[in-house]
Amino acid sequence: MEFFDVIYGRRAVRKFKSDQVSRQDIMKILDAANYAPSGMNHQQWEFLVVSGEKKNQLGDSYAQIADGYTAGWEQKEREQFMNYARTYGGAPYIIVVLTDASKNEGIRKMNLESASAAMENLLLAARALGLGTCWMTGPLNDEAGVRKILNIPDSKEIVALTPLGYPEKFPQALPRVDPELKDKVRWLE
Ligand SMILES: Cc1cc2nc3c(=O)[nH]c(=O)nc-3n(C[C@H](O)[C@H](O)[C@H](O)COP(=O)(O)O)c2cc1C
Repeated sequence: MEFFDVIYGRRAVRKFKSDQVSRQDIMKILDAANYAPSGMNHQQWEFLVVSGEKKNQLGDSYAQIADGYTAGWEQKEREQFMNYARTYGGAPYIIVVLTDASKNEGIRKMNLESASAAMENLLLAARALGLGTCWMTGPLNDEAGVRKILNIPDSKEIVALTPLGYPEKFPQALPRVDPELKDKVRWLE
C-alpha cells in the first residue's frame, strides 16, 4: 500500500473475521513498531501477544467494565458493544503495549510518548498488511485485573491494547473536527 493510503485507510476496527493471522505477519508488524523513535533511544516498549484462554480472560475483564458504562444504552447498541467487549470483536489476538514505569513525571512522559509512537507504527503496519486494530485504553479501567491476568510487574506501565485480526470491513473515516486545519494550525513567522 502507498504510505498515505495507509494513513487515511487506518480505522478503529471493532469486528473481526475468525481467520488466523500468521506469526510472520505479527512479527513484521512488531518489527515496524520496534523502529519507532524513542526518548534517549531507550526503545522503552514491550509487546505481549495474547491469544487463547488469556485473551478470553481479558474479554471477561473488559465486559465487566463495559457492563457498567453501557447500562443506560439502547438495548441493541448495548448488546453489540457487550459482544465486542467480551470477545474483543472476535479478533484472534490482542497486543498489549508496555513501557518502563517511572515515578519521575518527565521520564514517565518520555516513556509513554515513545511507546505511543511504537503503538502507532504497529497500527499502521497492520493496516498495510490488511489487518485491523483498535487502540484501546478502556480495558485499563480494570488495570489490576489486566496486570493479574498477564502477570505484568509494577516495573512496567501498560500503555494501551489493541485487538489484531482481519476486519469484517474497514469503517468509513470519521469527519475531521477541522478538515481544512484552519484552527489547528498556526504559522508563527
Ligand atoms: C488513547 C486512545 C484510547 C482509545 N480507547 C478506546 C477504547 O478503550 N475502546 C475503543 O473501542 N476505542 C478506543 N479508541 C479508539 C477511538 O475511539 C478511535 O480511534 C476514534 O473514535 C477515531 O476513530 P478512527 O480510529 O477510526 O479514526 C481509543 C483511541 C485512542 C487514541
